[in-house]
Amino acid sequence: MKKIITVIGSYNRDMVFQTPYFPRPGETITARNFEMFSGGKGANQAVAASRLGGDVFFITKMGNDELENKSKDKFSKDGIRVNYILQDSDLPSGTAVIMVNDNGQNCIVITPGANDNLLSSDIDACSHAIEKASFVLMQLEIPYNTVKHALDISYKMKKKVILNPAPTVPLEDDIYQKLYLITPNQTEATLLTGIEVENAKSASKAADIFLKKGVQNVIITLGENGAYFKNNEEQFLVPIQEVEVKDTTGAGDIFNGALVVALSEGKNWRQAVEFANSASSIGVSRLGAQSSAPYRNEISI
Ligand code: RIB
Repeated sequence: MKKIITVIGSYNRDMVFQTPYFPRPGETITARNFEMFSGGKGANQAVAASRLGGDVFFITKMGNDELENKSKDKFSKDGIRVNYILQDSDLPSGTAVIMVNDNGQNCIVITPGANDNLLSSDIDACSHAIEKASFVLMQLEIPYNTVKHALDISYKMKKKVILNPAPTVPLEDDIYQKLYLITPNQTEATLLTGIEVENAKSASKAADIFLKKGVQNVIITLGENGAYFKNNEEQFLVPIQEVEVKDTTGAGDIFNGALVVALSEGKNWRQAVEFANSASSIGVSRLGAQSSAPYRNEISI
């Protein structure tokens, strides 16, 4: 039987503008293309995990209109267990305005909407999904107190909790002590540790700070330089395959979704990071975040 993965996090509507470059203050530019996608770090990670073969529960809160019902149907088609997707009757879904330039880089502005209403009481109401899980994967696009509460419950139930600290806020020491794994990117690792993370050497220093605070395992993603792993027994850098980059939005989400699937299948750390790198490099070669998440048959390892 497959190990269950429970993803707790945000759902957004992504409005993606492909622009030649990012506008300067006061400048108006015309987009080459506009598309709307289902997004949000939580949803992207849940979709990536499910497409890659994970058995996934997704706990989130979205608005309540036709578009959301369609997204829920799509999640279901992607194999996600949708019983814990909550809908808020007052607030609209979170929305992200995303600009992607010709180099595949992005700028994102979000308004949280219903994500802000995913409360500790909702987590209690969905605790069955945590009880069933072996791995719980969270990000920081829902209220901090909700993340803390979900972490407390999961920790008490002896679940392996993975925190992708995005978007970053300062974290209390108590959080670090309950984490099986933290997966910041280099900017997030810099903000959280004060170490300027640029390469494997500085990532190692930053990882030491996380380990000292009580996290059991650390993975710092380094963009085109790959991903760096460290725990108290081993450390290594896994380089990433070179691909033609179209859109880096959601690369970290696909990485996290793929990683948790690999861990749930019992792969070792190196194999899990290789699998996650491979999935995210497919993701960056396509437009959109969730829409670019690959299926299992696209990955050769
Ligand atoms: O990580 C990418 C995601 O960040 C987008 O889908 C957008 O919704 C924002 O949450």
